[in-house]
Amino acid sequence: MKKKLTIALIGCGNWGKNIARNLHELGVLGYVYDLNSKLSDIINFKYKLPVLDLKEILNDKKVDGLVIASPAITHKYLALEALKNNKDVFIEKPFCLSLNDAKKLSELATKKNKILMVGHLLNYHNAFIKMKELIKNGKIGTPKNIRANRFALGTVRSEESVIYDLSAHDISMILSIAEELPIYVNVHSIHHNNNIGPDAISVKLSFSKGLTSLVNSDWMCPYKEHKFSVIGTKGSLIFDDTKPWSEKLLYDPSFVTSKNTIKNAPIKRIKIQENEPLRSELEEFINSLVSRKSPLTDHKEALKVQIVMDMIDKNLKKNKVRI
Ligand SMILES: NC(=O)c1ccc[n+]([C@@H]2O[C@H](COP(=O)([O-])OP(=O)(O)OC[C@H]3O[C@@H](n4cnc5c(N)ncnc54)[C@H](O)[C@@H]3O)[C@@H](O)[C@H]2O)c1
Repeated sequence: MKKKLTIALIGCGNWGKNIARNLHELGVLGYVYDLNSKLSDIINFKYKLPVLDLKEILNDKKVDGLVIASPAITHKYLALEALKNNKDVFIEKPFCLSLNDAKKLSELATKKNKILMVGHLLNYHNAFIKMKELIKNGKIGTPKNIRANRFALGTVRSEESVIYDLSAHDISMILSIAEELPIYVNVHSIHHNNNIGPDAISVKLSFSKGLTSLVNSDWMCPYKEHKFSVIGTKGSLIFDDTKPWSEKLLYDPSFVTSKNTIKNAPIKRIKIQENEPLRSELEEFINSLVSRKSPLTDHKEALKVQIVMDMIDKNLKKNKVRI
């Protein structure tokens, strides 16, 4: 008989609540812990879980894996403790707040042969999965440019910049299409009141084979836009996550010809099956614990995303922008 997995959730805030629900529905939620015991109490009561503190969870041999959904600044310490205690680990994005920390965790996971996955959620969104499949099948020819806009008047974090909170999602998606690191990064930024780094950025990434990307992230924008478009030599695919499922993924067959004329054709909706990306992501984590195969967004993938976030930070420093 297969062993039943036990997963502990660390951090029961706004996002952690959703993780708890999914892990419970998947039958693997063993314990939850939050520094604010009022929040963990609510979940413990709801799912009738035994109450343990962090040390007890880390020492409990029954616990196979930890899901870390606490603030970014705590990710490194908690993941380090979990790996040292031989647990597999899922860390919510951003992986870490420095490249050094990310490298340390990645090395330790490799040395200990542990699963270390990072919550680059949109890789598990059916619209993005379909988009990648269509690109691979040549639907839009060769991808030339990727435009990623992520704006909202949303959570303004005080311990990390918008790069680590919002751009991380888009960088992960861009790298999965580019299949290489950028050779050139150029950044413009806006600083309203976050002392840690920018509140809005506009980044150009250039890749060795001619692909370029424009990433715009802003958490102080009065309107919400979550749009990820890939423009190819034979058309474009547009993933708009603010739209209902029937309109989330559009195919625009229009393109600019080599003679700079426009070949127009009507836009089509691409049918996709609805999913809850967080559910699919946590299923990937659970499956990797069973199969011992690396998940899609493992620490090696996350390290590449961290390298690009570091390149962006360094570009801001080089240009002496307040960071
Ligand atoms: N993938 C996504 O789309 C997505 C969406 C939202 C948030 N997130 C990520 O999830 C994480 C949590 O975000 P949130 O919005 O839920 O934040 P939040 O502030 O609402 O919740 C964080 C919780 O962690 C607790 N906490 C703080 N330090 C802790 C510690 N050392 N040990 C245990 N608990 C601790 C806090 O008490 C709080 O309840 C962040 O990394 C964030 O970037 C990811």
